[in-house]
Amino acid sequence: MAETKALLPKDFLWGFATASYQIEGAPTADGRGPSIWDTFCARPGKIADGSSGAVACDSYNRTSEDIALLKLTGAKAYRFSISWSRIIPLGGRNDPINPAGIAFYKKFVDDLLAEGIIPFVTLFHWDLPDELDKRYGGPLNKEEFTADFGHYARTLFEAIPKVKHWITFNEPWCSAILGYNTGLFAPGHTSDRKKSDVGDSSTECWIVGHSLLLAHGTAVKIYREEFKEKAGGEIGITLNGDAVYPWDPEDPEDVEAAERKLEFSISWFADPIYFGRYPESMVKQLGSRLPTWTPEEAALVKGSNDFYGMNHYTANYIKHKSTPPPADDFLGNLETLFISKSGESIGPETQSFWLRPNPQGFRDLLNWLSKRYNYPKIYCTENGTSLKGENDLPIEEILEDDFRVEYFRGYIDALAKAVSVDGVNVRAYLAWSLMDNFEWAEGYETRFGVTFVDYAGGQKRWPKKSAKAVGPLFEAIIAKE
Ligand code: NOJ
Repeated sequence: MAETKALLPKDFLWGFATASYQIEGAPTADGRGPSIWDTFCARPGKIADGSSGAVACDSYNRTSEDIALLKLTGAKAYRFSISWSRIIPLGGRNDPINPAGIAFYKKFVDDLLAEGIIPFVTLFHWDLPDELDKRYGGPLNKEEFTADFGHYARTLFEAIPKVKHWITFNEPWCSAILGYNTGLFAPGHTSDRKKSDVGDSSTECWIVGHSLLLAHGTAVKIYREEFKEKAGGEIGITLNGDAVYPWDPEDPEDVEAAERKLEFSISWFADPIYFGRYPESMVKQLGSRLPTWTPEEAALVKGSNDFYGMNHYTANYIKHKSTPPPADDFLGNLETLFISKSGESIGPETQSFWLRPNPQGFRDLLNWLSKRYNYPKIYCTENGTSLKGENDLPIEEILEDDFRVEYFRGYIDALAKAVSVDGVNVRAYLAWSLMDNFEWAEGYETRFGVTFVDYAGGQKRWPKKSAKAVGPLFEAIIAKE
């Protein structure tokens, strides 16, 4: 059957995304305090190339270059994150506020708006002030963390009312699982710390997830009660989620496991936000390791999204396991695979071990989310790809990134069909990323940018082919009136 012409609404916003620790550098400039990522990067063996975000793209000193880049792409919106450690260097509600940090972001927002670019601002993209980790274990302590995050959020709502799109947390799944279970990310807790004073990877990640939800709910409450009406803005959370397909579509256990995978990643956070409870599959598997909701907590979190922020990159085949789950299992007792039972590949390899392009997965996941959560307004706050071996190519070839252009073409087409054919309500799309940057544990070897950053050549920015491809792909399908 022929599909109707794909069209996006006239006010659809598109642009690019970044995050503070990945691009800013300048870790001690103007009173910034250390974050857990500064500390983590200093631990031997934690970052693939032994690097850190100490210089990164030097964006703290190059805001006008970044804005010029956005202009070149034609972007209508830009998502960036604020470094908590620049605003409150020690992080806590009784610690001093740093006016220089506030002034930096305030000016940046003014500069973006002066160029007609709409800011989407993330309050927390993983760079927790180090002092809060040391003082009370960061999100392991829900009372302290929630109160401190609320204070930090309020400080910014008050200081930068021109921001109309606030995102509380970026990918809390990653903070909780990679930070407190596998140890791949800061602060790097793993099961080998089971006997230490910080607890146990089979429980810590679920405690952290609960705290992040409460801190999200607290910031949203503050925004709605004290700022929303006057500022006319909105606030939500950004969740990561991969598309899933059963490894063997004929096997009901694989079909069920695929659903369970979505629940252990997306619904872990989205069910409390939309329904006020955790998914049944998690309660069943995790038992008393999963925190329970007091009625007050559930009421705080339920209904706390003005929009659903969706980060999406890849898809997986899901195979069930019949063995009982180990205590530190975080996937839902299943295997994720790239090849199906019938030998089909989910998508081509990229530089990232976890990423295989599959645009149909984007459309299918948008539909799954929309059905489960009653068609919320969705902002796609990240989507993009690395490219196998890109870092080893000569610069002329890096700039001809046809693989990335084709990735965006496929995903934007899937998005347009999900909106115009299936009726999902996506209103913005921010590609990851405006430029190559510090890719966390993978360091600088993995590049996600539509702009090449010459780290050895003074952080000079070179737009790749994809920098000029995203705009025309959208402009061709956004309604003119
Ligand atoms: C999601 C994260 O939010 C971002 O920080 C990261 O660089 C991209 N995924 C690519 O891995």
